[in-house]
Amino acid sequence: MVYLVAAVAGLAGFLFGFDEGIIAGALGLLRGQFGITPFMEGMVTSAVPFGALFGALVAGSLAASLGRRTSLLMAGLIFVGGAVLAGAAGGVWTLTAARIILGFAIGLAAIVAPLYISENAPAKHRGMLVSIYQLAITLGILGAYLVGYAFSESWRTMFMLGAVPGLALALGMFAMTDTPRWLASKGRLGEARAVIARIRGSDPRDAAVEAEMNAITQTVQASAAEGTWADLFAPVVRPALVVGIGLFLLQQVSGINAVIYYAPTIFQAAGFTSSSSQLLATVGIGIVNVLMTFVGMALIDRVGRRRLLYLGFAGTALGLGLIAVGALTDMQALGPLALAGLALFIGSFAASIGPLPWVMMSEIFPLKVRALGMSVASLANWGMNFVIVFSFPTLIATLGLGGVFAIYAGACVLGLIFTRLRVPETSGVTLEAIEAHLRSGRPFRDLGATPQAHPPGGSALAPRA
Ligand code: BGC
Repeated sequence: MVYLVAAVAGLAGFLFGFDEGIIAGALGLLRGQFGITPFMEGMVTSAVPFGALFGALVAGSLAASLGRRTSLLMAGLIFVGGAVLAGAAGGVWTLTAARIILGFAIGLAAIVAPLYISENAPAKHRGMLVSIYQLAITLGILGAYLVGYAFSESWRTMFMLGAVPGLALALGMFAMTDTPRWLASKGRLGEARAVIARIRGSDPRDAAVEAEMNAITQTVQASAAEGTWADLFAPVVRPALVVGIGLFLLQQVSGINAVIYYAPTIFQAAGFTSSSSQLLATVGIGIVNVLMTFVGMALIDRVGRRRLLYLGFAGTALGLGLIAVGALTDMQALGPLALAGLALFIGSFAASIGPLPWVMMSEIFPLKVRALGMSVASLANWGMNFVIVFSFPTLIATLGLGGVFAIYAGACVLGLIFTRLRVPETSGVTLEAIEAHLRSGRPFRDLGATPQAHPPGGSALAPRA
């Protein structure tokens, strides 16, 4: 049952990746048909992260008032509308508008889907289940690369196909219930208990269900009123806000989306001359991205968030650094080096700094401001995503491949320092225990260092401070 929850919400991730990746294959055709300028190219491309900014802005209040389920259902319907509009677009401006609408749905779903999964998941599987969302993103990107390859003659078909997973998401959410935590926050305790029992596959009168229900209602009672912006920016929540925003800014400044959107351009700059070799290398990147996400999923609840972040930032810094040094020194074998460097970069990203900010943003905020906090963290993600995607063509023209990648590599080194100084260990700790630690005023970074924060077997019984 819990896997069904993850699968349905994971569709949102697939749509996210699909709508990001689809532009890579479509751009060549759009250039030919509409004779678009580089500026317009940047505009159509970054329309998705731009629209997502607005989705992320309203996601917090929608998820709190309408619920997690209804918000995701809405996102599914908007995906369908946006995909049809994009496929039928008469020109670049309508296509840009359609992609802003798609971006809106992505921004909304990108907050609510991980929230929906984490609030339905037992503590010991939470990291792995939320990573399913990241896996879905990478499958969406690979799916888009493959669709771009299979329908290389028709950009309309490429965009229209996005309606299929959109419809599946809407239908899937229609059949699901909302999360126990949201139901309890609305006083619908009977329904909340029934959902917990169904997800755990046990009887509603079971002791474990009872204990989980108690932990949830206590937290809900402690934060009876809906959180406000003032609550979110209160000193007690600040350490969580710093971690949520910081991890996403670093994830984006690693340059991930320069690679996702412009991989063929990068391979061209690295000396891959034929477009078929550029495309093939791009599909290779898409495959490494998917495969290494599985590795991340296997590791995330085992080695812990902090250790995995160290590995991820070190690997991405090394991969980017290799390419930067190769390009800056005009190395002969830059082509193969770039391929190896990018594979190391994507692999380290996919196993670590891809999923971890999503996982952590869904667990570090107190319930009262959780949805709001996730909105703000996502805004940071989309804002920086937009900046990186929009600036990349200009940067590469002025600084060259070596200069740009050296900047991205520097950001990954900063990520190592940030992890050391700020990031708490949340692996195996219940959402209620994370909240209790934050409210205790002890340094956030010390969470997970104390044994009582790790309930045996990661049961959902929250030790209360
Ligand atoms: C990031 C996206 C990125 C994707 C690539 C996600 O975690 O937030 O911006 O495109 O990973 O797999």
